[in-house]
Amino acid sequence: MKILAIESSCDEFAIAIMDDGKLLCNVISSQIDQHKEYGGVVPELAARLHLQNSGWVLREALEQSKINIEDIDMVAYTAKPGLIGSLIIGKVVAETIAMYINKPLVPLDHIEGHIYGAAIDHNFEYPVLAMVVSGGHTQIEIVNSPMDFKIIGATEDDAIGECYDKVARVMGLEYPGGPLIDKLAQTGNPERYKLPLAKNDDSYDFSYSGLKTATINLIHNAEQKGEEINKNDLAASFQKSAIEIIKIKLNRAIEQYRPKTLTVAGGVSANSLMRKTILELGKDHNIKNTIIPEMSYCTDNGAMIAKLCYEKEMFQNKNKIR
Ligand code: KG4
Ligand code: ZN
Repeated sequence: MKILAIESSCDEFAIAIMDDGKLLCNVISSQIDQHKEYGGVVPELAARLHLQNSGWVLREALEQSKINIEDIDMVAYTAKPGLIGSLIIGKVVAETIAMYINKPLVPLDHIEGHIYGAAIDHNFEYPVLAMVVSGGHTQIEIVNSPMDFKIIGATEDDAIGECYDKVARVMGLEYPGGPLIDKLAQTGNPERYKLPLAKNDDSYDFSYSGLKTATINLIHNAEQKGEEINKNDLAASFQKSAIEIIKIKLNRAIEQYRPKTLTVAGGVSANSLMRKTILELGKDHNIKNTIIPEMSYCTDNGAMIAKLCYEKEMFQNKNKIR
């Protein structure tokens, strides 16, 4: 079964082709350089650039996979959530291909896709506990099968990646600031600045606006007083607070749900402290199947959508036969 999958929910237009679960290509056109000068993603520009990029990305994907478009059995695409203009371009391209080759069209969820990014090179044993950390989402999900996702907690305001990017902007760093804060934090002292933990309560929900405001206020207060902020120490202190609360809540969620697989998904899963934290949690709770996705499957890509589509198909076919 050959699946062509399109991901276009934000500022990446990406196409992957997967053959019976084996990835044949994972082509991504990123727009980071074009959005950098505005300090964040401009939705209108993202959609326009998708229009420009979709043609060559498709040609490149077919070329790398060494297959003809007629050989595709199924076309999957990210239907939600995301920027509406960006999503529409992906949907139209997917629909056009599916109509041309007269094959099924499969609309999929971006967050579910991120979770299955971790399953591209590894096997999931269910239930899976997935920590989703991206620019738009922060949520804990229990996955019982590729058809059964349960959100047990989510952010009430800013997502963790959004918080990273907004703090980074005030620190004078380029978009996307998340990876730059991560880099600065490597040589910083995480105990230097005292910052609050985001929503340290009994729920599995998160709230990152308090940490964002506290960090930005700290920078502004120092500026007013003419004091120098140590960027490495601030990055390390911010990162410690941002991820400590995830550790606290996951500790509790693991005790309650006893998952067979622990994983992390979304752009912020590329973060070094996040990866270390998840591995430590897996070790502490003796979860042998603790999966940290490959770096190339952390941020938006088509491979994760292809894998989600493949696993859903396999699951549905298995249950049909029974
Ligand atoms: O999943 P993604 O590519 O797009 C969304 O669906 O949102 O995530 C992008 C987010 C951005 O906020 C970016 O700053 C963050 O992931 N990010 C990181 C790192 N790499 C990417 N945040 C912290 N540390 C990183 N190493
Ligand atoms: Zn994403």
